[in-house]
Amino acid sequence: TLVDLERNDTENIIKDATYFKENRKASNLLKDKNIALIFESPSTRTRISFDIAVNELGGHSLMLNTGEIHLGKKESIKDTAKVLSRYVDCIVARVKNHKTLEELAEYGSVPVINALSNLSHPCQILADILTIKEHKNKLKGLKLSYFGDGNNVCNSLIIGGALLGMDVYVATPKGYEPNAMFVRSAMEIIDKYGEGSLTLTNDPKEGAEDADVLYTDVWISMSDKNKDLEEVLKIFPPYQINEKLLSYAKNDAIVMHCLPANRGMEITDEVIDGKQSVVYDEAENRLHAQKAVFKYIFSEKQ
Ligand code: CP
Ligand code: NVA
Repeated sequence: TLVDLERNDTENIIKDATYFKENRKASNLLKDKNIALIFESPSTRTRISFDIAVNELGGHSLMLNTGEIHLGKKESIKDTAKVLSRYVDCIVARVKNHKTLEELAEYGSVPVINALSNLSHPCQILADILTIKEHKNKLKGLKLSYFGDGNNVCNSLIIGGALLGMDVYVATPKGYEPNAMFVRSAMEIIDKYGEGSLTLTNDPKEGAEDADVLYTDVWISMSDKNKDLEEVLKIFPPYQINEKLLSYAKNDAIVMHCLPANRGMEITDEVIDGKQSVVYDEAENRLHAQKAVFKYIFSEKQ
């Protein structure tokens, strides 16, 4: 998770991501390296951007979808981790249960990158920080407000915001706050650097007022097998990013969504297609930020 990073690691990743964006095919960082891309759940942005990142950095990627390897079914995660470590230089994995990532990391001997778990989505947030920096030219002191479900993206966003000294607001219905462990870690990071803040609220207007950045994500995530749509539609609509909510924010506020979006639910067509939306920049930046993550991992190891 992003809790593994220090502030200067994060800043360096963002700096490197900018370099990779400006110099798209300038590096051979992954030459002679084989990278396993394991996807237990569907993905458009993450799998394609990782695949292209590996290829543009001169490496070789192996796309392994559920059903194509034995992971956790016909073979323990421990054995899979040990075997894969004999072949590949790094494992990128999107998993249903965060514990799978921890076991891959514990028993494997190669680095493991989190491509989304039920608990967190760190690579998404690194791309989002790059996107905010590009549009606002700074990070510290910005009011970054998240609306809706306190899910994996939200858990990572509060850590990213804390690492960069932002004032993060999270507006959720009661009972849908971000994971307590991540809230605690965010508070510790804020204390450690003496900058930034985290405010949890059930009032969407409090989140939106004078915000620099408004962020939302789906109300039902891939891992939410038992969430009832009818119930969700009763309690989440006040947290929708629409023209009214946006009108409380600063005039030059930007609107973010990691995608895929459920248009008409957590965000309206007018807003996601509007001039303040930066959702496709976020999607593009996945590619550049993930190259920087490879640089962080492989230059650290050398
Ligand atoms: N934002 C994101 O992770 O999208 P995918 O599920 O398409 O990878
Ligand atoms: N919270 C969403 C993010 C998708 C990129 C999910 O886990 O389904």
